[in-house]
Amino acid sequence: MAKLEILRYPNPRLHTVAKPVAQVDARIRALIDDMLETMYDANGIGLAATQVDVHERVVVIDVSEERNEPLVLINPEIVWASPSRVKGEEGCLSVPGIYDGVERAESVRVRAQDREGAAREIAAEGLLAVCIQHEMDHLMGKVFVEYLSPLKRTRIKTKLLKAERELAR
Ligand code: NI
Repeated sequence: MAKLEILRYPNPRLHTVAKPVAQVDARIRALIDDMLETMYDANGIGLAATQVDVHERVVVIDVSEERNEPLVLINPEIVWASPSRVKGEEGCLSVPGIYDGVERAESVRVRAQDREGAAREIAAEGLLAVCIQHEMDHLMGKVFVEYLSPLKRTRIKTKLLKAERELAR
């Protein structure tokens, strides 16, 4: 296993649209292991392959208190979303230190393959539902700050670019 580098907003590679995984093989399982290690190390609750510069439809999530319930979603598709929506505070490992409110479907049903390649369907609500929608946005090249106002987005961009320059110094 290896820790991977997480792309930071506004890196344009975060806007790449991921391709479907053709075959769940040893290469994909190694990617999953590395993504889980990277997510746990960064104290995140979800990570999309896009964020580690791999543009294939793979997501890892763990919203458990004990950090011992990894959920792997390969080629996830939302098959149902509740008409009821909720606004919650979101953050992202690619947008460090920024938290803001985003409105999402309150619950969703998702069809995906697991790490063995088996198809499964998951019903999610609450934090898990939010997390799934957030990570699936990444696979479409979308970062949560794009739901915010242009003014907020510009402020976030400026702040993160400045932080990056200071790190590079
Ligand atoms: Ni994110």
